[in-house]
Order: sequence, then structure tokens, then C-alpha cells
Amino acid sequence: MNLIVGVGLRTGTPYAELQDLVTTALHELAGEVQLVVTIDGKENEPAVQQLVAQLGAELRTFSNDELANQPVPTPSEQVEQLKGTPSVAEAAVLATGAELLIPKRQTSNATVAIGVWRAAGYDVRDREVVQRVIAERRDVRRGFLDLPVDDATLGRVLEAAHRAPSVGLSQPWDFLVIRDLATRRKVHDLATVQRDRFAASLPEDRRAAFDGLKIEAILDTPLNLAVTCDPGRGGRHVLGRHADPRTTMFSAAIAIQNLWLAARAEGLGVGWVSFFEPDEVAAVLDLPAHIELVGYLCVGYVDEFAAAPELVRSGWAKRRPLSWAIHHEEWGRRDTSIVDDALQAAQNAVPATGQRVHVIVGGDASQLHQADALVVDLGADRPPADFGVLWRPARTPAEAVEFGVEIARDLALQGVGHLVVRLADSSERAEALARGLQVGTSACGLTHSSA
Ligand SMILES: Cc1cc2nc3c(=O)[nH]c(=O)nc-3n(C[C@H](O)[C@H](O)[C@H](O)COP(=O)(O)O)c2cc1C
Repeated sequence: MNLIVGVGLRTGTPYAELQDLVTTALHELAGEVQLVVTIDGKENEPAVQQLVAQLGAELRTFSNDELANQPVPTPSEQVEQLKGTPSVAEAAVLATGAELLIPKRQTSNATVAIGVWRAAGYDVRDREVVQRVIAERRDVRRGFLDLPVDDATLGRVLEAAHRAPSVGLSQPWDFLVIRDLATRRKVHDLATVQRDRFAASLPEDRRAAFDGLKIEAILDTPLNLAVTCDPGRGGRHVLGRHADPRTTMFSAAIAIQNLWLAARAEGLGVGWVSFFEPDEVAAVLDLPAHIELVGYLCVGYVDEFAAAPELVRSGWAKRRPLSWAIHHEEWGRRDTSIVDDALQAAQNAVPATGQRVHVIVGGDASQLHQADALVVDLGADRPPADFGVLWRPARTPAEAVEFGVEIARDLALQGVGHLVVRLADSSERAEALARGLQVGTSACGLTHSSA
């Protein structure tokens, strides 16, 4: 059983008193304590901290508002007056979603209640390991050791990839293991051509930054893996694929993520290279025509993994905060309004430096004659794919402002330091989007001018 201990206590309660109360209550139950829960402000109480350490549990606190609404069996008027909630120990257990097993027990200074969490999660330590391997996985391009990767290790990594979920269990992936130097040289040549092509497409200041980046380790690793997808695997009636054929590619991509995580645990660095026309790699590898390349991976042992992505450490790009990515019930409804958030952030924004980009609001792809131009297309129809064109058919002016803020923020994450904004359309939506761009640039410390 995953047990949860709810605790309420007076400041300075001796640990021995709390420990006795908890030990006696737990004596009646079999299971491991996952979580100690209490009210905000008690997390630094020495008795609470000692209890958490002794139980090897996690500590979580709730505000009095969160506790006040719990349907506790043993409310107390005195606690209500002091804390603004009729219970701490019981309410804290219930606030986690757990079922109350042992209602409140008390001594002169402390109260304790015990709950059980019936969901089949791992215990705290195992959860931490899962989170750790996810956080410490890196895309690696440097620092490979001159060590071979033996078949048993590779087998474990590929086993993990092969356990990935897949649409209709179609398992559309295959793994082509490439050690041959001559083959890797040919693939390397293809990546070099694309690297040069990408460099030539960049504005000058960005190109200088790109020149310092390493984008592949094809010849630096003992092993390359081509992960492929057979989009038709399993025939006509693969469950779940009929309405969305992309799901087959998603499945193969997830296999790569499994591989990446398992490799991290083995001390194997993995670098994903996508500086290719996939068909050219397929030709070098002599893949059958129906097989598509999904990922080309360079794999080898490393003696350390960087704490942050190389693109972050080099200043090329930044990570996007999770709060920007979470919408509640409706698109755009985030924990805080993106516009208010940006206005607030503008007050303390640190001036940023970086690439200058001309944003043409209400334009189309014909205006993309220079490398530092970006068009925001407000039209109702999706334009042909072009990364120079951001299609933002805002439904209302308010949404257009939000889109503007968002564009500016996301450009800032990609190293943009100055926006020159030109309106190619005089509609209310275009003006609103331009206003949003201005708010977004101020929030990120970017400079802004109008053309
Ligand atoms: C689909 C895909 C393609 C990628 N292609 C390249 C690439 O061609 N060259 C490169 O240096 N990194 C490439 N990366 C690695 C990303 O730059 C890297 O994942 C990102 O910066 C985050 O860093 P992290 O993986 O260390 O967390 C690719 C990653 C993905 C998921």
C-alpha cells in the first residue's frame, strides 16, 4: 500500500512526540509511506523534516484554502479559528486525492491522519530515477570515448526502443546498425552539404554563431543507427491508423526516444542528425523504396553528460517554460494570461542581444526576399509550407494580440534580439498582432522598431 501521512503540529513540537504518534498509527497498517503532507508554512518545522527523512518520503504542503474545502470527518473549531481550515492532518490527506484510512489522532501538540493512495504508481525513489533519466538525457555531439559498443549493451538499448508504443501495435520501425567507416563517410558527406546549405541561408550574425556549433558526430562515434519506418506495416486494418497516417511516423519517433533514454542509462551518448534529405541517406544505405528514414543517430560512450542542451549552453536557443505550453480547457487559457504575463515581465526584462528580424504582418511568401525576413500570414487558407511564413489566422483581435506576444517570445528563444515590424495589411487583426509583437518584445528585453 502507498501510504500518506497527514500532519498538523504546533511550532516547535518535539520530533519524539510526532514520531510516536505516527509510528503507533502506522503499526496497524502494512505499506510504505510515500508522502507526508501538511499545511503551507510547516515544511521547515524540524519535526516534519525529521519525519520525512526517517520515512524516506516526499513532503508536500497545501494552502489553508485548499484544505478548507475538504470533507473531513473530524473538524475542529479551534483549528478553524487558528488556521482558517477545520482540519490540517485529515484535510491534507484528502487534498492529495487519497482515501482516509485512519482519521485524526492527536497529542497535545500534533495531529496525524493516514491515507492510502490506490493508484499503481512507483514509489518516490523509483519515480525520481524515471524523472532523472528523462532530465539527464542529452543530445550528444562531442566528447565520445574511444570504446566499442558491445552487442549485449546495444541489445538492451534496442530492446527498449522495440518496447515503444505503436499505432495498432504495428511496430513500424527497424534499426539499421552501421559500423562501416566507408558508409559513414558517405553519410557524413551528405550532412556536410546540408550544413553548408543551412549556413548559407542564415543572416550573417546568426551564421557566425552557427559556425561554432557541431551538428553531428557521424565519424566520431563507433556506431550509427538508422531508424526507419515502414508506413504500411500491418496492412489495411491497423487499428487507429486509418484516419491519421502520421501515427505510424509518431510510433517510430517514440521508439527513438525510448532508445535515447535507455542509452543514457548505459552511459551511451546519442546524437540525432537531421541535416539530410532523407532520400539521399536512403540511397546511400540502399534502403528498399517503401522504407522511410525517421532518424539517423550517432551512438558512443561518453564520460559525462552536460547538464543542459548544447544549444542552450552555446546561447543559440533557450528552453520554453512549461507554463507557456499548458492550456486549460480552451486554447489560450493558461495559468496566467499571456498578455498580462508579458506586460508584467516587461517591467523587469533584461535587455537581450541577438539577431535582427524583419516581421511583415499580413504579408505572404513573395516578401521573403531577404534571409532575416519573416512573414505573418493572416489569411484564412493555409499557405504552402515555408518556415519563413508563420500562418496565424487569428479569430479575434484579442487572439491576434496573443499570437503576437507568442511569436515574439518564441523568436526570442531562438536567439532573436531585435524586431523590425512592418504592417502589410491595415486590418484590426494585423494591428492587434503588431501590438502583441511589441508587448512580447518588451517582455523578453528585445528591441523593437517599425518599418
Ligand atoms: C528530430 C530531431 C532532429 C534533430 N536534429 C539534430 C541535428 O541535425 N543536429 C544536431 O546537432 N542536433 C539535432 N537534434 C538535437 C536537438 O538539437 C536537441 O535535442 C535539443 O537541442 C535539445 O537538447 P537535448 O536533446 O540535449 O535536451 C535533433 C533532435 C531531434 C528531436
